[in-house]
Formats: sequence, structure tokens, C-alpha cells
Amino acid sequence: MDNMDGLEVTDCTRCPDLVESRSRIVNGTGPADADMLFVGEGPGEQEDAEGEPFVGRSGSILDDKLREKGLARADVRITNCVRCRPPENRDPTAEELEHCRGYLEAEIELVDPDVIVTLGKVPSEHLLDRDVAVTSEAGSVERATLGGAAREVLVCVHPAATLYDRSQAGTFDAAIEKAATIAGDGASGQSQLGDF
Ligand code: URA
Repeated sequence: MDNMDGLEVTDCTRCPDLVESRSRIVNGTGPADADMLFVGEGPGEQEDAEGEPFVGRSGSILDDKLREKGLARADVRITNCVRCRPPENRDPTAEELEHCRGYLEAEIELVDPDVIVTLGKVPSEHLLDRDVAVTSEAGSVERATLGGAAREVLVCVHPAATLYDRSQAGTFDAAIEKAATIAGDGASGQSQLGDF
């Protein structure tokens, strides 16, 4: 892809609405060889302002949960289905998701994670290519061909869901715990803060 330099999309004007609403392209963050890849929906206001995924309120919830499980944000890779902020934080359209798909596939192929964690309904349905009832399916692992290989995809609720529905906090906790276990069991082994 000529507008991608390694893991970074350097220039893209495929989605007119998003080109209009974004301040910048928000690429994934974290090690290029992370064992765990989190995939969100798309940048929000804070992410668009800072140029990094999950740096707003949802990001703090994710960071706190990772820390609780002995993981550091810096050890995992975090990205989104679309890299440009949709207007008024609306869901990305099917066309926008499709436009950004190649970048996500390339990122998955390069990072080659042990587990891909989908944060919320949009990334879960996008990567599993089916309807997903996120709350009831959270914590389930399914294999899907992504980035040129069969991958383990773990469905998870969006971190923000724990804010407006406290009952989702336990669901979120259990899913992240499971992701940490899968990545920890992987060949290269996720480093745990407790190891140091
Ligand atoms: N929600 C998302 O889905 N992605 C972000 O980057 C931030 C919030």
C-alpha cells in the first residue's frame, strides 16, 4: 500500500466525511511485535486531538484494567477499525470500514499477535464478519482469517460500556483476564509487570 509506511498510514483521502472531520490520521500504538492487539472502533475527540488511540476516558479504563492484570499499556498494541474520527463520533459506515480494512489487515499481519481483542460491537462484527451480541459473547474466542493467517479473536465489551452499565465491569474484567492468559501462554510470552 503506497500510503502506508510500515505500520503507519501517512496519507489517505478515501473517506470524504472523515477527511472533513479529522484533525489527523490516528495510527495504532505499541510494539510492532506485541502479543496482544486491541482493536477499537475509531478515534474519538481526544484521540483525534492527540493522535493516539484510546487516550480519553475509555483509554484510562483500559489502561487501569491492563495494570490490574499485571500488564502495561506499553506492552500491548492498540489500534482502531478506522483511523480518522467520524463526525459527532457516529459509527463508521460500512464503506469507511472497508476503506480502512487493508490498513488493519496489514497491521495484523506485521504485528502477528497471539490474540486480537475486539473492544465493542463494531470491531467484533467487522473482524468476525457476522452479527455479534457483544455482552453475551464477551470472553469467547473464535478463529478468523485476518492478516493472511488464522487468528484468535477474543470478543470484549467496549471499555466505555462499563461506565454506563456497571454490570458490564465484570464482563470486561473477565475478558481482559482471558486475553492476558492467552498472550501469556503464547510462544514469545507477554512480559508481566510482576516479573520485574
Ligand atoms: N473508542 C474507540 O473505539 N477507539 C478509541 O480510540 C477511543 C475510544
